[in-house]
Parts: sequence; C-alpha cells; structure tokens
Amino acid sequence: MLGSSPTSELWSAPPLSYVVVILCVFLVIKVLLQPYIQTNIPPFPARPYPILGHLPYIVKDQRIKLNEFRKTTGDIYSLYFGSQLFVVVSGLRLVKEALVKHGATLSDRAPMPHLEGGDMGIVFANGPLWKEQREVSLAILKSFGMGKSSLALKMREELDAYLDTLAALKGKPEDVHTLTSTSVANVICSIIVGKRFEYTDPLFVDFVKDFFRQVAETENISPVVIWPWLRFIPGNFMRAKTLDRCIKMILSKFCDRFIELTEKQRGTEDAPETFITSYLEEMEKLSAKGKDTTLSKGHLRRILQQLFLAGTETTTITLLWFMVFMLRHPDIQQKVYDEITSVTNSDRYPDMQDRTRLPYTTAVIMETQRRSSVSPTSVPHYCRADTSIEGYTIPAGAIVLTSLDSVLLDGDIWEEPLSFKPERFLDQAGNVVKPEAFVPFSMGKRICMGEALANMELFLYSTSLVQRFKLQPCEPGQVPSLDYREGLTCPPKPFKIRFVERESTV
Ligand code: HEM
Repeated sequence: MLGSSPTSELWSAPPLSYVVVILCVFLVIKVLLQPYIQTNIPPFPARPYPILGHLPYIVKDQRIKLNEFRKTTGDIYSLYFGSQLFVVVSGLRLVKEALVKHGATLSDRAPMPHLEGGDMGIVFANGPLWKEQREVSLAILKSFGMGKSSLALKMREELDAYLDTLAALKGKPEDVHTLTSTSVANVICSIIVGKRFEYTDPLFVDFVKDFFRQVAETENISPVVIWPWLRFIPGNFMRAKTLDRCIKMILSKFCDRFIELTEKQRGTEDAPETFITSYLEEMEKLSAKGKDTTLSKGHLRRILQQLFLAGTETTTITLLWFMVFMLRHPDIQQKVYDEITSVTNSDRYPDMQDRTRLPYTTAVIMETQRRSSVSPTSVPHYCRADTSIEGYTIPAGAIVLTSLDSVLLDGDIWEEPLSFKPERFLDQAGNVVKPEAFVPFSMGKRICMGEALANMELFLYSTSLVQRFKLQPCEPGQVPSLDYREGLTCPPKPFKIRFVERESTV
C-alpha cells in the first residue's frame, strides 16, 4: 500500500526565503575566502582586502605598481580583484614559457559578458572559431600586400595627404594627435573598405575623435571585467559601459555602413576589391562547397571593428612617441635624416626595399617601440586548464597578464633600459639585430596579427616625416616629457610640435 513514509512526514521543504538567505551567506563567504582557499597559486605581493582583493593597490598608476610588485615578489605573482584571480607573469623567460611553452592552455581570452558579442571575431574569440577567423583574415591582409611594396604604394596616397597637411601648418606649433590618428585610421580604411577619407570630412574626423576619447578611458584591469553586473547600473558607473559603447559606435557608424555599401556595389563595375569583398567571397565559396565554416557576416562586422580598434591606436601612439624622441634627441634625428638622404638622394621618399639600407633608422624605430612599450600588459589571456609554472599552479579560470613592460624595460637585458639608445639594435658591423626580448607585438599563438602592417606604417611614416621636415619643439629646449597617459595603451601626454619643411623636399 502506498502511504506517506515516516521520513516524508518529518521532512517538509524549508521556505524559499531560507534557501535564498543560505545561498547568499554561502556566496559572501566564498567571495571573502576565495583569496585564501586557493592552494599553490603564485604568491601575493600584498595582503588582499576583503571583497575588493588587491584592487585598492592599483587604482592609480597600474604600470608602476605592477613593476614594484615584481621587485618585491618575483616574476610571477597573484592578484585578486574581487573573486577573480589574475596572475601576472614578468621577465622574458617566464613570459616566453607562458605564451609559447604553455600556449595550449594560456592562449585563450577571458569571457567578456559585459561586451555584446564579446566572443565574436578574432581578438576575444577562442578555439576553432578564433583559428578560422584569424587564418582567413590574415590570408586576406597578406593578399592585399601587408608587408609588401604593393600596399606601400597605396599607403603613399595617404602619406602624401598627411605630409601636405603638416606642411600647411607652416611650422606653427600644433598637437597632431587627431591628425595622425585620422591618417593611420585611413590606412586601415583603405584596406577594409577600399577608400580613404578627407581630413575635412566632419563625420569621419568626429568618429575617429570619439573613438580615441573612449579608448583613452579604457583600462586592462577594469572593474567591469571583474564585476560584469556593474553595466546594469544606470549611467556609466565606474566607466563600466565605455568599451562596449565604443565598440557599438564603431559597429554602427563604420562596419555596418560599409558592409551594406559593399553589398550594394558588389557585381558593379566600380566595386572596389576590399577586405569585406574578399571575406564575403571566401564565405560564399566555403558554403557553396558545403564546408563547415564559422565565417559569417556577424563575425565580419566584428573583425572590421577589431582591426580598426587594434590597428589604429597602437600605431598612432607609437608614431607620437617617435615624434617625442626626435624632439628630445635632435642629434639622433639628424643622423636619421643623413642616413635617409644618403640612400634616396633626396629625390624620392624611402620605400620598403630601403629598409635594409637604413639600419640606423630601423634601429631608431625599434628603440622607440622598446622604450615606449605602448601595450605594457598586452591583451589579457585566460587559463583554460590548470597550468604549472615555476612550481606554482595557475588554476583554470585565472586571467593571465603578461607584462611586456617587464621584458622591454628589463635592466638585466637592456643596458640603461630607460635611456634612448638605438645602437643597442645594431651589431658591430652596423646591421640590425632583433633580440628575443624585443616583444612589442607579444609572442606565441596570439602574437599581434597586424605586425607586418604596423612595421610598414611605422617605417614609411617615420622616414617620410624626418625626410620632409625638421621636427622641432614649440620653443627651443622645451621638449615634451616622457609622461604618459595610463590606459589600455600608453600614449604620451598631449604635446605640441613644429614641422618645419626642409629646403630640398621630394
Ligand atoms: C605598433 C603597432 C602595434 C602594436 C604594438 C600591437 C601590439 C599587439 C599586442 C601586444 C597584441 C596582443 C597579443 C597577445 O594577446 O599576446 C596584439 C594583438 C592584435 N593585434 Fe596588434 N599591435 C599593433 C598594430 C596592429 C595592427 C596595425 C593591426 C591590424 C591589422 C593589429 C591587429 C591585431 C589583432 C587582430 C590582434 C589580436 C590577435 C589575436 O587575438 O589573435 N595590430 N597587438
């Protein structure tokens, strides 16, 4: 006979409110104790605060603080932000070990719930999706001549417009940040949408300005990465919505507009061949063959946005640092000019083939990249499975920050690391050497996808600038400082510069 058992009579479900309270208590205890219950993780440089962890230590001057932590704790240490574990890896040996030897477990990106579509495209994607999107995009960029003379020729049109605009300033002191970023953005545009924009085009200039303003407010260790729910608070509390807004702005004002335009133009005579058309063709080819592919218009718009974001800011900032160093070291600027004129006879601009004939100039550009270290903690990586480094365990789910700063500015590797010494990239015969510790583009599977394009841009812009102009400070002797603005990347603080046209120009 079926009847109620003695146990079911005794046991009745606890009221829902009890369950909620118990769950909350459990969650609070977990958050409070999390930093103390992980075993064998790399050491803490300082005692974590309850709930906030180490966040209060790095509210300001993240870059300086991480460097201090390395000195006190060593090349690998742990930080808690809330209940999220970050492991910071420093120094060439360990950065290489993390990114190359343990590339299989440490090459993912962290989930980005605060960014709509945050796992699409390349930069924040993982697994086979990331692999296919990266391979296809890289192949398209190469087919457009990334790193080759054919693209350098196209870049010339943009460069001429940029140099002419600088010449029109007639040596007047000017902050050229916006102009330079607009010009660099145009290089990416000419590849992905097949056209450059006039500097007087208010829509484009406003778009680039807005983009840079928002990127400047974004940080690598941002509270919203740790507490994604911050984005639900009305307004833009703790800048939780800044990056998402920036991305949405690029998507709507740029990517969607151009994908739509390209689709309308496709098949017509004047349809330009662009990154967009090549991606769409590849996508259609694969689906016509019935192949399983992740290529889609959704990913395409994300990739365009990411190429724009990753490709414009870093290159612009490096060029601004180049200007700063040329103002601070007129003797080096003169040597660069002399070398360029000796190769080009001043009757043409340098091209990519001249790179091997301009070792000193190449060394100056490399030293600019080393000394400015524009991406001090690279883009964060994510630990997919427990990984052992130096006898410590980096547990699955930890975010790994590889300190490129600690490699590029390491006093054990570079003599007088804070001094600007291009000669360190030249051997005794005057040839360029590239030490393993030269890692501005990071290393391993996630190494910068645009390295070849960035190198072209840096070479062609820097050489053209010095060849055509004397870069001079506003007042003699008043050179810009090496102070930087802290963020995802580190640009110099705003400065003014005079571009004085040289007598014999090309
Ligand atoms: C001086 C200029 C540049 C610097 C210093 C730079 C640096 C970097 C760094 C440090 C990373 C992160 C690597 C990692 O996660 O370990 C990265 C990733 C990336 N960069 Fe660059 N970059 C530059 C220019 C460019 C350009 C021009 C493009 C565009 C074509 C570009 C596209 C990308 C992409 C798509 C990624 C993500 C790669 C992935 O997640 O697989 N970058 N870059």
